[in-house]
Amino acid sequence: MNDQTPVADAPLFNPFSPEFLQNPYPSFQLLRENQPLMKTPLGFWVASRYADVQMILKDKRFGKGFEERMKLRNGDDVFDNPVYANMRTWMLVQDPPDHTRLRGLVAKAFTARRIEGLRPQIQQLVDELLDRVEGRNSMDFIQEFAYPLPLNVICDMLGIPAAERGRFEFGSKISGRLLDPTPVSDDELTQIREGFSGQAEYFRDLFARRRAEPRDDLTTVLVQAEEAGDRLSEAELVGNVILLFGAGHETTVNLLGNGLFALLQNPDEYAKLRANPDLVPGAIEEMLRFDSSVQMTGRTAMVDIDINGITIPKGEHVINLLGAANRDDAAFDDAESFRVDRKDVRPMSFGGGIHFCLGAQLARVEADIAFRSLLARLPDMRLEAPDTAEWRPTFTLRGLTSLPIAWG
Ligand code: HEM
Repeated sequence: MNDQTPVADAPLFNPFSPEFLQNPYPSFQLLRENQPLMKTPLGFWVASRYADVQMILKDKRFGKGFEERMKLRNGDDVFDNPVYANMRTWMLVQDPPDHTRLRGLVAKAFTARRIEGLRPQIQQLVDELLDRVEGRNSMDFIQEFAYPLPLNVICDMLGIPAAERGRFEFGSKISGRLLDPTPVSDDELTQIREGFSGQAEYFRDLFARRRAEPRDDLTTVLVQAEEAGDRLSEAELVGNVILLFGAGHETTVNLLGNGLFALLQNPDEYAKLRANPDLVPGAIEEMLRFDSSVQMTGRTAMVDIDINGITIPKGEHVINLLGAANRDDAAFDDAESFRVDRKDVRPMSFGGGIHFCLGAQLARVEADIAFRSLLARLPDMRLEAPDTAEWRPTFTLRGLTSLPIAWG
């Protein structure tokens, strides 16, 4: 720590507090205004302004430094635990050159053209989910729509047959805790370990089937890369498919849920969107901005780095508050208000730099089809409990436990 290091005296960033998890935005505002780049008593730094977050994510002097950080946090034997051993292989936590190699293998399946080509399949899934509630006048939007849609889309991409998807439905969703800045308890770790080992067992069997009989799916692409030799190890194959599977649905469910919640809480905005569905793509960017399903991503300073006169020493970790950057008045006019016709919204929700979300286009296409179809088929949706919202007790992945809506 150096002399000019600002350390928080009041806990403006307290991811242990239930109130903060329910609504972090008042704290975010205080952070941006008073201590936009500060070192917390928890030992890491927190960046909350849009310009700083954007700079840190793009600056190559910042990396993930995952292995060193995990050892510091959890001890030298941290990777004896299968959960962290699995996580260590994820492209999400790697630095170049391994990150470049892993991302390159998967990126081919995520080109804008391939994702656009999935539209008919995604439309069919959306239609089926809405058919199921036809004749009713209410549903839990999370359980009956927002969760099954992205889950089935990523299963389609990976080539997981429909009959084998039951085992993945309504998982404990606890693995997201691995991304939080607060320590994961032994009990949580055990649950995550059981979840991962079940998935690993399933995927190893799927890999064997694709080796024997290749198909036109992402699993086959990855299995073939592994077979080609030194490009992808078996452990990396298993780990990155688990990453893709989780990232493919645990985040998009919350774009749909948080987005619909914001829309229905703002009836005038909802009316504008209903009157003009061409606003949907911009409204989705606004939903991402207003209440992002991913609230933070961390980086480690690989050398001493000076930002606005403050030195972040080599090896120290910075938490970049995407959700706070998204509400920065310096980047967005009247940032605390939700406006579906806001122009040129560039939310930080998908991150930036070399780790920019690989699935961003997929999430946007899913949300585009979902909201257009919801507006067409259930135009008079309303919140069943407008004043109560129960948020999941995780910080990094922000989403509602349920969202009861009614219509008709
Ligand atoms: C609304 C939905 C989504 C949001 C808000 C989101 C957000 C993010 C963010 C912030 C990152 C960067 C993390 C970092 O900087 O370290 C990221 C990375 C990633 N996302 Fe997403 N994501 C979403 C949907 C998806 C989907 C649908 C997929 C895949 C099917 C996906 C796959 C990935 C992968 C593989 C990475 C790691 C990329 C890398 O490290 O190079 N995401 N996502």
